Amino acid sequence: MNKKRVFSGVQPSGDLHLGNYLGAIKQWVEMQEKYESIFCVVDLHAITIKQNPEELRKKVIEIAKIYIASGIDPKKSVIFQQSDISEHAELAWILNTVTRMSDLYKMTQFKDKGGENENIGVGLFDYPVLMTSDIILYDTDVVPVGEDQKQHVELARDLAKRFNHQFGETFKVPDVRVNKEGARIMGLDDPTKKMSKSASSTLNYIALTDDPEKAAKKIMKAVTDNDGIIKYEKEKKPGVSNLLNVYSLLNEESIADIVKRYEGKGYGDFKKDLAEIVKQFLISFQEKYNAISDEEVRGILTNGAKKIKPIATETYKRTKKIMGLN
Ligand code: TYM
Repeated sequence: MNKKRVFSGVQPSGDLHLGNYLGAIKQWVEMQEKYESIFCVVDLHAITIKQNPEELRKKVIEIAKIYIASGIDPKKSVIFQQSDISEHAELAWILNTVTRMSDLYKMTQFKDKGGENENIGVGLFDYPVLMTSDIILYDTDVVPVGEDQKQHVELARDLAKRFNHQFGETFKVPDVRVNKEGARIMGLDDPTKKMSKSASSTLNYIALTDDPEKAAKKIMKAVTDNDGIIKYEKEKKPGVSNLLNVYSLLNEESIADIVKRYEGKGYGDFKKDLAEIVKQFLISFQEKYNAISDEEVRGILTNGAKKIKPIATETYKRTKKIMGLN
């Protein structure tokens, strides 16, 4: 039986953080064993906000290195750069013609990113259509993402179905997969909002490239509450619950077991231990990261694009044909 196909991606902008790792990349690593996997560095998405060309170029390499250092094996999975395959943008244009303004106005991420502002770029508004294109271009079965991207994958499903209904069966309708535990890692400085690379303070997140000692200090400074009890209560104790979540995912241990171990102990002990876990995780991650050369990554990206180009070409051809564009 043919393996099912997975597609996902990360934007090469800002610092990649524990939220991106625990919410997305960690589950990709597990999935690559069972699925035919395609992981993209979505540079065309990154340019929906202003980027410095030199930094963007470096960022693409950095993200691909992060995939590999996290455990994505280029022998098992395809890693490629979005702009290397022109069909992403071409299919997005076609999908624009079946997308309604009202579909995009509903997107909560657009609203959060300043959707009210008249001067905002059209690309930012249209970005979920490009994301739909990324996904359906490869006949994707499953899209593993964090909670904040779920609505975009649901739009991809709707657009694929709408197109199929209008023109005839063309696209596979993808499923979304959100890991229950890491779906929404919260900011360390404000656990009521998600950890975000665009946060105003670097105390909000732990970047995968953070100095391990400094990262440990961020954990010690993380906002909790003052009842001093270590237990998981998302609504009442968002700070402690978030730290428990991170602890559990990094140490691969259940929250219940962790809570039991810290019974009667204070936040100091708990944070000190978590700080050490985060520090050790980063030391080991960065050792792998630093062992990969830029040259090697460029080769991996080029090979990745070569490998999947035929799938993109085929889908795009099929789409043009059914619409009368060939
Ligand atoms: P991006 O680059 O913002 O985030 C990459 C992945 O990280 C997840 N994530 C989180 N998960 C848990 N907690 C958090 N605090 C957190 N912050 C981010 C995101 O949900 C995402 O899975 N549009 C996408 C990239 C994209 C894509 C695609 C994804 C473009 N085309 C096609 C899947 C399929 C984005 O901006 O993700």
